Amino acid sequence: MARDTLTIMPVRSIAGAMPVPGDKSISHRYVLLAGIARGRTAITGLAPGADVASSCECVRRLGVSVERSDSTAVTIDGRGWAGLQGAAEALDAGNSGTSMRLLAGLVAGRPFRTTLTGDASLSRRPMRRVLDPLAAMGARVSDTAGHAPITIDGGPLAGLHWQSPVASAQVKSAIMLAGLSASGTTAITEPLRTRDHTERAFPAFGLACEVSALTILVAGGQQATAPASPLHVPGDPSSAAVWAAAAAGLPGGSVRIDGVCLNPRRLGFVRVLERMGARVTTDIQTTVAGEPVGTLLVAHGGHGAAVIAPDEVPDLVDELPVLAARAALGGSLEVSGAAELRVKESDRIAALVTGLRGLGVNAEERPDGFLVDGSARPRGGSADAAADHRLVMAFALVGLGASGPSYILDAGAVAVSYPDFTRDLARLST
Ligand code: S3P
Repeated sequence: MARDTLTIMPVRSIAGAMPVPGDKSISHRYVLLAGIARGRTAITGLAPGADVASSCECVRRLGVSVERSDSTAVTIDGRGWAGLQGAAEALDAGNSGTSMRLLAGLVAGRPFRTTLTGDASLSRRPMRRVLDPLAAMGARVSDTAGHAPITIDGGPLAGLHWQSPVASAQVKSAIMLAGLSASGTTAITEPLRTRDHTERAFPAFGLACEVSALTILVAGGQQATAPASPLHVPGDPSSAAVWAAAAAGLPGGSVRIDGVCLNPRRLGFVRVLERMGARVTTDIQTTVAGEPVGTLLVAHGGHGAAVIAPDEVPDLVDELPVLAARAALGGSLEVSGAAELRVKESDRIAALVTGLRGLGVNAEERPDGFLVDGSARPRGGSADAAADHRLVMAFALVGLGASGPSYILDAGAVAVSYPDFTRDLARLST
């Protein structure tokens, strides 16, 4: 077997308590905001994967002191907007769309040139969705047939009202970051509400924005300041969703995840698991830098049929692969309005359906979604994860409930968001 092949043997069930790595989306935002803040920001609970390491390295290459004491702790000494300097060479965002798109917004108002590159997967993902609004604000931008490498010649920006055609928190956040140093007010209207971590993180850095229905307003001329006390990143609901879906799909399954981010814009998967029969409790215990944090408890409760409607997609966009895997273990799932999946780390509709079929699951590809029929037990077999971390975890989940072994190819990418995934899987397996 190739080095990157992950072998999954069937288990009886999944049970226990497990903390999950820090939230990836929040980690990126804290690192970037700390990079433009005046003063020292200490961050703990940082997402340990390769994606956030890319953001840390890019901010360092922009001339900011970024000291990583271990994989989950970092201290960043920002010197305000003026502390950012042009990097001599291209910044490498690796596999991370969030790094590339948010950094594009961050540097758009700075008086220097920035080139951003990424790996093969990131170089296939659309970038005009973020470059068009930045160009409309006054940055000079160029791309490679709509993709990375991208170059931004930053300069004075003027606020504008951008009607985003795509429901994307990355696009929204890039425009918000650019708007901080623009003249006048910048407004972004989204077609559907997306994750709001940037809005929640702003006040922790002394920044303001105003949210009114689907529109976010950012006044220009703002300077961030480092928070007075360390910031702790809560657990990643997208990682918690893997164990939640496994417990929900396997008879006898139950998991408890403490310290997880319970932001409602990230909990669409919980509502779908419940519709498919799971018994779920969420208990918010505290609020950290504007993010609700607490415990998620999920237990198996049978197998039902669920349909996910287009307007639900932004609240569970990253969890669609594990929800598909959950349905493969019993019940069914039909998804539409999720064409965005085709421009994620892989074409997540094609690769998901092909991989599920390789594991003996009855699945059908649709232009903007998929159908999974879990009435027959998966056989196991092999599935190509296409170097996509979310597909590795989804296929592993199917393998846990299969009747034979499963081989997941190109599985090394799991380290993008969950480097200790196989260790935690062994701990929870019964
Ligand atoms: C993210 C937004 C989403 C999500 C991605 C992280 C973010 O992407 O899929 O994993 O941190 O803002 P889009 O903005 O492309 O929808």
